[in-house]
Amino acid sequence: MPGAIYAEGLVKTFGDVRALDGVDLDVPEGTVLGLLGPNGAGKTTAVRCLTTLLRPDSGRAVVAGIDVLKNPNEVRRSIGLSGQFAAVDEYLTGRENLHMVGQLYQMRAKQAKARAVELLEQFNLTEAADRTTKTYSGGMRRRLDLAAALVVSPPVMFMDEPTTGLDPRNRQQLWEVIKQLVSGGTTLLLTTQYLEEADHLAHDICVVDHGKVIARGTSDQLKAQTGGERVEVVVHEREHIATATEVLRGFGKGETTVEEHTRRLTVPVTGGAKLLAEVIRELDTRGIEIDDIGLRRPTLDDVFLSLTGHVAEAKDTENGEGAATEDQAAKGRKRKKEAAK
Ligand SMILES: Nc1ncnc2c1ncn2[C@@H]1O[C@H](COP(=O)(O)OP(=O)(O)OP(=O)(O)O)[C@@H](O)[C@H]1O
Ligand SMILES: [Mg+2]
Repeated sequence: MPGAIYAEGLVKTFGDVRALDGVDLDVPEGTVLGLLGPNGAGKTTAVRCLTTLLRPDSGRAVVAGIDVLKNPNEVRRSIGLSGQFAAVDEYLTGRENLHMVGQLYQMRAKQAKARAVELLEQFNLTEAADRTTKTYSGGMRRRLDLAAALVVSPPVMFMDEPTTGLDPRNRQQLWEVIKQLVSGGTTLLLTTQYLEEADHLAHDICVVDHGKVIARGTSDQLKAQTGGERVEVVVHEREHIATATEVLRGFGKGETTVEEHTRRLTVPVTGGAKLLAEVIRELDTRGIEIDDIGLRRPTLDDVFLSLTGHVAEAKDTENGEGAATEDQAAKGRKRKKEAAK
């Protein structure tokens, strides 16, 4: 039986751009799917197709057991959506915005009011509740938008980058809200640029790039696929980065990633603690002072990097600038060339 969110061969083109190039998804009821991918990968397009805001060119989608293309209106009644860009009415207060949503869903006035109070509290907006949202900060708008998506508790929710722009405390609180929601049986599809968030919340993860799913599995499965341990070194002086990179190259089983500003170098290895001791000796012989060194398992960031050749988040590697490794820079340049075609 298909899950609460199901898609088969979704294709959506905009002119020459294949934003979705045959995407399959299957999200079991009561679970969270994390949709990851670099900017322009097709995440928002997938969310828009599944929530009836866009009609795919081809493919099939079923949400909450309802065919998205055949019965879009019915689907809309069964889902909640919080988009990538907060959609709140600027001229209404926070409280009025939530009331309005309640009314749209035909809640009784009293019930809508009570729900608004509850949500304003949950999203730290009680103090600002009676100000027009024009005066809200970006993070406040985002929180109000999320609250609006939760006025009714639909069985299936879509959140497109729900915590982008939230400070760490508000992000943590939203995670708690999401966990509660899911433990109550809600199915959630969430896109995010924060891999820690996917690690924390998602039962399954789909990585998309150029409109295609390029990997899927649990966070642990994806990390295991990326393989092995990493040696991570922080050198004391920036001038030593180049020599240290050379040393690591001799021990590594893959490319060395360099983060200039933190002077942190990471390289995949096999050989565990014994190898680590050898690395330390070699660095010492070369006179490289280190602030920190250790072995660690791959993180979801490593997975993302090795799959897409991109670091997640705002850092611009689209044109190869700021890329952490030469290979990434090359991929970035290739991407730019392709985009220019
Ligand atoms: N309405 C549109 N008209 C033309 N092109 C579009 C439209 N919407 C999306 N695209 C293109 O489709 C591709 C996928 O865009 P989409 O917004 O789905 O990416 P995304 O994965 O959500 O990226 P981001 O991480 O930046 O939010 C991009 O190349 C984008 O430029
Ligand atoms: Mg998007």
